[in-house]
Amino acid sequence: MSKRAKTTPKEELPQGTVLQDTNGNEWEIQNIIGSGGFGYVYRGTKHGVRSRQEYAIKTENMESGPLFVERMFYLKNMKAESINGWKLDKKLIELPLPSFYGFGSIDYNFNKYRFIVIEKFDKDLEAFLKSVSDNLLLGAVINIIRQMIDALEYIHECGYVHWDIKSQNIFVGKKPKENHVYLGDFGMVTKYKTENVVPNKKLANNGTLEYIALDGHVGMHTRRADLESLMYNGLEWLKLKLPWKGETLSKTITSKVEMKDEVLKAGPKEKIYNYDKVPHCYFRSMKIIYSMEPAEKPDYAFLKKLLKEYKKEKKSSK
Ligand SMILES: Nc1ncnc2c1ncn2[C@@H]1O[C@H](COP(=O)(O)OP(=O)(O)O)[C@@H](O)[C@H]1O
Ligand SMILES: [Mg+2]
Repeated sequence: MSKRAKTTPKEELPQGTVLQDTNGNEWEIQNIIGSGGFGYVYRGTKHGVRSRQEYAIKTENMESGPLFVERMFYLKNMKAESINGWKLDKKLIELPLPSFYGFGSIDYNFNKYRFIVIEKFDKDLEAFLKSVSDNLLLGAVINIIRQMIDALEYIHECGYVHWDIKSQNIFVGKKPKENHVYLGDFGMVTKYKTENVVPNKKLANNGTLEYIALDGHVGMHTRRADLESLMYNGLEWLKLKLPWKGETLSKTITSKVEMKDEVLKAGPKEKIYNYDKVPHCYFRSMKIIYSMEPAEKPDYAFLKKLLKEYKKEKKSSK
């Protein structure tokens, strides 16, 4: 469970509620499509406009922090100019992050809520992976990881780490973008340092226990940690069991340290934990991530290229 999922009262905004954002645009609440730690996510439409376009409206009690952080991230870093420039520069068809449409606040029932309006997706990754057949799974997972590396590169270049990578925070595009995935939920983004990167107990163990990277367990915000989390997720997306699943915090940490040791000492053609369906290039990518310095900038392009080698491995094993 995410550490921020504490108890703040949350109530449902009724269908038809109209929210006015700071630009004067009006958004109409439809039904609930998701629930998080502090509030609901709704399907919404533009009020008074005859359009079938749907949006996601994420709300949260004004007292709580994550949506404040998320709004700040969208406002600061998700401007169309910066995104378009980045896409051109990196030759990306799509930046794997949701588009941002507006924000504001609303009083309801003596409570004040904050809201943001973002691109709406049909399903999260969890639902999508269930629909992928076994023989297509490896290709699909590698494709998702490579797009998540693009998403992380952008977030990192903005000066932040994401810190909560997991399938519930990743969304799948609608036709014709059904091969695209998008990393959302910026409620835990944090600025990272590039000098004096040291552990800080107060910041330790934030996030979702099974995916927290080793740096996360000591409260050190690093870019390599986002990548390490991503690779743990990827193993699960391949329907493998993480050795620390369901374990206590201290056992989880010990088990993650063991995996790191195993990966680092394994030869280039060796597989670990009977993870037979994991290609060698996956472990080699993990090795690179584990071997990075805390403040080091990851070589995103190289990792993406390396992960593509699963195709060659598949051919040579036939
Ligand atoms: N843009 C979106 N499109 C579709 N569903 C969404 C969207 N954003 C969130 N959801 C749904 O709501 C859930 C909670 O949203 P999330 O942004 O992860 O909030 P929290 O910070 O509370 O975890 C997600 O797991 C997902 O099922
Ligand atoms: Mg979430």
